[in-house]
Amino acid sequence: MRKYIVAGNWKMNLSFDDAEELIESLIDLKKGDELEGLLMIVFPSFPYLELATDLTDEVDVYIGSQNVSNKEKGAYTGEVSASMLNSMDVAYCIVGHSERRKYFKETPEQIREKIDLLLEQAIKPIFCCGELVDERNENLHFLVVKAQIEQSLFHLNTEEIKNVVMAYEPVWAIGTGLTATPEQAEEMHAYIRKLISDKYGESIADEMSILYGGSCNANNARNLFAQPNIDGGLIGGASLNADDFYRIYKSF
Ligand code: 13P
Repeated sequence: MRKYIVAGNWKMNLSFDDAEELIESLIDLKKGDELEGLLMIVFPSFPYLELATDLTDEVDVYIGSQNVSNKEKGAYTGEVSASMLNSMDVAYCIVGHSERRKYFKETPEQIREKIDLLLEQAIKPIFCCGELVDERNENLHFLVVKAQIEQSLFHLNTEEIKNVVMAYEPVWAIGTGLTATPEQAEEMHAYIRKLISDKYGESIADEMSILYGGSCNANNARNLFAQPNIDGGLIGGASLNADDFYRIYKSF
């Protein structure tokens, strides 16, 4: 069955104490509210992962990492490997986020390496794709997203692709307050599902969770999530406030 997911990408925000308080508030809000087939995932920074996995040990809140190394192990100062994440019960990891592509010059090849290492460690990659504003204005958005998916995912086999979660994040919508309309997002999500279906077959495409990200908040989430191909959200700014994030979660 396709899973519905509301995920909070905290990015480089919050002190240790703030992170602890936010997770505790979410656990409190969510208590007794286990919605079948709807997952809540939060993505704290590396130093808070252990705190987060400990606090959520007994509850239905999943923890993911915002990044992972494209190297397996060894002399790579400052890097964090997929096997380290696995040893800390981290279940998901974001890859291909536009901020990493832009500020850290991540290439499709590096993203592919990260995905392979994560899958070897049974960690589900949340693969981000999305076009720049100029690319949309020039009507290149479908081509751009297609190339991103082909370059970093299409080497996977059928069993592997089943463990990937997709996130469509138009770059012009991230942190700008300019959300894609439900129609714009749905059009791209349907296109992504068709790409997966053409490559891997209809049943795999049908099972795949495709999240929307980009200025998604408690006011617009309901209309976005009502679209047939939008299976949840990858939330930045609005995930830093427990009440807002919980309202988004309850928008399904
Ligand atoms: P905002 O929700 O702040 O626009 O960020 C979206 C995002 O980049 C999630 O990964």
